[in-house]
Amino acid sequence: MRLLAAAVTTLAMTFGAQAVMAAPVELKFSHVVAENTPKGQMALKFKELVQERMGDKVVVEVFPNSQLFGDNKVLEAMLLGDVQMAAPALSKFQKYTDVLQIFDLPFLFKDMAAVERFQQGEEGQKLLGSLRKKGLVGLGYLHNGMKQLSASDPLQVPADASGKKFRIMTSDVLQAQFEAVDAVPLKKPFSEVFTLLQTKAIDGQENTWSNIYSKKFFEVQPYITESNHGVLDYLVVTSTEFWVSLDEPVQVELKKALDEAIAYGNDIAAKKTEEDKQQIIDSRRSEVLTLTAEQRAQWVEAMKPVWKQFEKDIGADLIKAAEAANQ
Ligand code: LMR
Repeated sequence: MRLLAAAVTTLAMTFGAQAVMAAPVELKFSHVVAENTPKGQMALKFKELVQERMGDKVVVEVFPNSQLFGDNKVLEAMLLGDVQMAAPALSKFQKYTDVLQIFDLPFLFKDMAAVERFQQGEEGQKLLGSLRKKGLVGLGYLHNGMKQLSASDPLQVPADASGKKFRIMTSDVLQAQFEAVDAVPLKKPFSEVFTLLQTKAIDGQENTWSNIYSKKFFEVQPYITESNHGVLDYLVVTSTEFWVSLDEPVQVELKKALDEAIAYGNDIAAKKTEEDKQQIIDSRRSEVLTLTAEQRAQWVEAMKPVWKQFEKDIGADLIKAAEAANQ
């Protein structure tokens, strides 16, 4: 009898332990944009690839549209273990590191090909590790695109922005950029932008074509200046604590799926930049303004002093390396 009981206990322990070991790890991916965006599509592709290849080991759940966490909370939540992956805009890491502010410097990159060259080069790859001391791991960059200026009045020259209120992401560089043209920058979460514009609590904002389109900002902003004055890209992050809790083969597979999902998202980013801009033009809700070379030069001249202001925090050499990516 005693032997039988012992055997039953052993069996229960064995199967119990297996059941615990076999339960797939839950990976919550939280973001703030719509699903029909580069980031929204990348996250869904990642979920699909993980499901296909390792569904018994990891289950990815995607929460779009700030459903789970807004952009000012997600990194804190990640460090507490409440969410395992996110891809905030590079402008949203200022609390954790100074160096990523390089991506906010106005008129630094001439186009997305230059951004890609910098990110994939030696300096860009080093920046992925810039959050390590804060308990976060940078797993890769994801593109969205160049930013445009939208407003309630036409913006052709810097003086047109004077005194106007612009929503910005939580970045001191972006704050300085708008102050450089005598505008009033306000740091606000992405989820509030539409209402702030609709109620005219603010006059304008800066964003990519896909964000302006998918969040319908163009319906409440009669003018969009095609300024391409800065970049809005993302850093896919996880917490060190979560990452090291995974077995190495699982890490390798996840990273592979993520790299593929990022490549997919980057293709969508390039396509959406054109398509969403065209959708906005076709809608006739907003007039798209282009700048003459002379007008553009005025914006560059007004905003470029911001580089010097942040050179110490970011590093002169890093800025040089980013500039070199333009060639
Ligand atoms: C914003 O806050 O404007 C963007 O960072 C949103 C996003 O994630 O693209």
